[in-house]
Amino acid sequence: MSPEPSELTFHKIQQQHQRLADLLNQIETLLEQRSRPIDEVVRLLGQLGDQLIKHFETEEAGGYFAEALLHAPQLVARANALMLQHPKMTQSSRKLGGAVDPETSPEAWWEQTRERFVAFRAELHEHERAEDGLIQEVYMRDIGSHD
Ligand SMILES: [Fe+2]
Ligand SMILES: [Fe+2]
Repeated sequence: MSPEPSELTFHKIQQQHQRLADLLNQIETLLEQRSRPIDEVVRLLGQLGDQLIKHFETEEAGGYFAEALLHAPQLVARANALMLQHPKMTQSSRKLGGAVDPETSPEAWWEQTRERFVAFRAELHEHERAEDGLIQEVYMRDIGSHD
């Protein structure tokens, strides 16, 4: 039996969560070690922003939000609240991956970027956790309703 489209989307979202987590780990290491050129870190931060935007698009277009709306109307408020967090995180990631201000010393850049990154990462982590919880609930209800 082939999986339903909703299962494919669910799987895709989880894969993207994993890929994002891997990239975040890689960037965190670079920000801690400071052993690579700033340009390289800026490039990865830009990649993070691009990956994040694609991920949000997947979630918003026929992803778990639509699924929640169809099968679990009582979860709509939670799904909408999560979706409303996307623009702010998109903005933060764009700021993180932005061009380096020539007035900023390398030392200050590393310091500032690490600080921003840690805050951004915590916010995204909280968001993804809430999302995973919501997806689980939607699917538990779905399975329950077919018994
Ligand atoms: Fe999300
Ligand atoms: Fe997500």
